[in-house]
Amino acid sequence: MRESPIGIFDSGIGGLTVVKAVRQILPKEDIIYLGDTARLPYGSKSTEAIIQFSIEDTQFLVDRGAKYVVIACYSSASVALDIIRKEFSIPVIGVIRPGVRRAMQVAKSGKIGVIGTSLTIYSGGYEKAFKEEGAEAEILGKSCPLFVPLVEEGWLDHEVTTLVAREYLEPFKKDNIDTLLLGCTHYPLLLRTIRKIMGNINYVDASAEVGTELAQGLKKRDLQNPGGKGSTSIYLTDLSINYKEIGERFLGEPMKNFSRVSLKSREMKK
Ligand code: DGL
Repeated sequence: MRESPIGIFDSGIGGLTVVKAVRQILPKEDIIYLGDTARLPYGSKSTEAIIQFSIEDTQFLVDRGAKYVVIACYSSASVALDIIRKEFSIPVIGVIRPGVRRAMQVAKSGKIGVIGTSLTIYSGGYEKAFKEEGAEAEILGKSCPLFVPLVEEGWLDHEVTTLVAREYLEPFKKDNIDTLLLGCTHYPLLLRTIRKIMGNINYVDASAEVGTELAQGLKKRDLQNPGGKGSTSIYLTDLSINYKEIGERFLGEPMKNFSRVSLKSREMKK
């Protein structure tokens, strides 16, 4: 079991930002990554569809021997984490809670902004997580659906992106938030543009926190693999025209060791 890989999944290749962070914190662990590029985007689909897709994604990783599963997709983690934990016996961590805990540590003003896909924001997953963590701050959510295609286009510093970001984020300035949670795999890449509009406030990117909590979880369960190779195998359900270019943008290095796979359908057990 200790030698088994960590399984990480996302709707596409944005979750490679989480892979990057996990590798920095756990360089010896082997990772298998699944990006469901054939069914991307998840953030504009229904809760029911994303729960079903997330179960199938997790099953794929479990079938390949994952000892721990990380839900790197914020849209999935918002709606499917509790169900995945009930459906599977291996430990599962999502990207929502670690970011929530971090935001609560750094926020001072009592107003926290959260940005994410439509599903992430409208599902109320963040409000629920803040409430369960005992937050007293007011949580202000805003969906920013155009950010994902802008990042995939590579328009990280483009004037169009600045205009879109201003439209989405301006209300937060009036609300005087002092902390902004970047609740989507793609948003850390827009930090420079977001900072131009929001200025010097706290920005929370959960990926580093996920790595830290994963390391703690492995230790607690005696699942660490200090003798691992530190390999990353990437599985994608579709190889679209520019997936490699986009993937390398997220991973921050050349993308090697990847292949296309098909997922089996899998019904919910309970
Ligand atoms: N990975 C998704 C998320 O973090 C963004 C892309 C999508 O909508 O599938 O919510």
